[in-house]
Amino acid sequence: MGKLNWGMIGGGEGSQIGPAHRLGAGLDGEFVFVAGALDHRREAGRDYGKRLGLAADRAYGDWREMLEGERTRDDRIDLVTVATPNATHFEITKAYLEAGFHVLCEKPMTMTVEEGEEIVKIARATGRICAVNYGYTGYPLVRHMRAMVARGDLGAIRLVKAEFAHGHHADAADADNPRVRWRYDPAQAGVSAQFADCGIHALHMASFVIGQEAERLSADTVSCIASRELEDDAMVNLRFDGGAVGRLWTSSVALGRQHGLTLQVFGENGGLRWSQEQPNQLYWMPLRGRLQVIERGEGGLSPEADRSSRVTVGHAEGMPLAFANIYRDLAEAIRAGKEGRAMDPAADLYPRAEDGLRSMAAVFAVAESGKADGVWVDARPPMFR
Ligand SMILES: NC(=O)c1ccc[n+]([C@@H]2O[C@H](COP(=O)([O-])OP(=O)(O)OC[C@H]3O[C@@H](n4cnc5c(N)ncnc54)[C@H](O)[C@@H]3O)[C@@H](O)[C@H]2O)c1
Repeated sequence: MGKLNWGMIGGGEGSQIGPAHRLGAGLDGEFVFVAGALDHRREAGRDYGKRLGLAADRAYGDWREMLEGERTRDDRIDLVTVATPNATHFEITKAYLEAGFHVLCEKPMTMTVEEGEEIVKIARATGRICAVNYGYTGYPLVRHMRAMVARGDLGAIRLVKAEFAHGHHADAADADNPRVRWRYDPAQAGVSAQFADCGIHALHMASFVIGQEAERLSADTVSCIASRELEDDAMVNLRFDGGAVGRLWTSSVALGRQHGLTLQVFGENGGLRWSQEQPNQLYWMPLRGRLQVIERGEGGLSPEADRSSRVTVGHAEGMPLAFANIYRDLAEAIRAGKEGRAMDPAADLYPRAEDGLRSMAAVFAVAESGKADGVWVDARPPMFR
């Protein structure tokens, strides 16, 4: 079968996440970038699209024009990535799913739990793929952690500790900068700022690795910069449905922390520690053993890690290649659907609309608990209770 056609909405020139998607989608030669509505400014989006190599008639001015243009083409896109600001995800994702396209949506998938449930229902009813870009789960050693937990290396999981704490909004003098301010304004950001932006990555990764979903949580949310209505720091305690205890810290005022995504998993027979800023090393401490460093790219780790590692051991491998693993999983899922066969189980690791919905339920649970002095609340979406 030939290459798959790929389109992108958002990710225009100068955007933060656009280049990582284009690198990730292009890495394996599975997808060809053929269509885009890349910018909220029509002409800037068209112009940039053409400079990136799109044909003039597929460098669209906006996502609706792209939907109409692509809908009727024989060579229409097989997958569209939605990488626009958060408040637009629901409307765009819904429209493309309903028109029969597969979608990879940036996080957060929606702004409310109800919208999340609607997306899950549409994806199920249409049989289209709706993936959510928790792209950090594409790192080989994150997938290896999951494989180690699943094959029982750690025994029962007692504790998972997840952090996504950076210091990029720590400057009180910068709090009124429009590029920062909207993130803490409920009218634009919704019910949560830092947890909805970063905390959900950490929570999703914890669930992905331990194979358990958050059931209940208690949150302490604070605005360290007093002019902010929404939280810039949160500490969340969790209970997972398989019995694990969760501790999650997320912050945007942690000066000196850069990206700050880390995961530690402690089981009855061993502990693991991984950090996104040193993604090529995983620390493994077996009970009664010695601390070991597992290097990405070592042969024979697990099928999941071996498959997703792209560069020889000892060479740094980073975030766009983690995204590439999500894209390669999606290519396999799309091809399997077209060919009417089961997909390769080793590729069946991409995050789903159900994960996007669970995140949204957790966001609302954190906001509710935070307002009520940390009262324990249900973290599950109503549809999964
Ligand atoms: N998965 C991750 O690791 C990760 C990392 C960063 C950002 N994100 C998510 O990606 C999304 C984009 O974030 P960003 O930091 O790249 O934002 P950004 O502000 O840097 O870029 C947004 C881009 O979308 C374009 N855009 C805005 N509205 C549009 C519309 N209606 N139609 C077409 N294009 C439109 C803008 O012109 C711009 O090019 C957000 O939802 C964010 O949460 C995810």
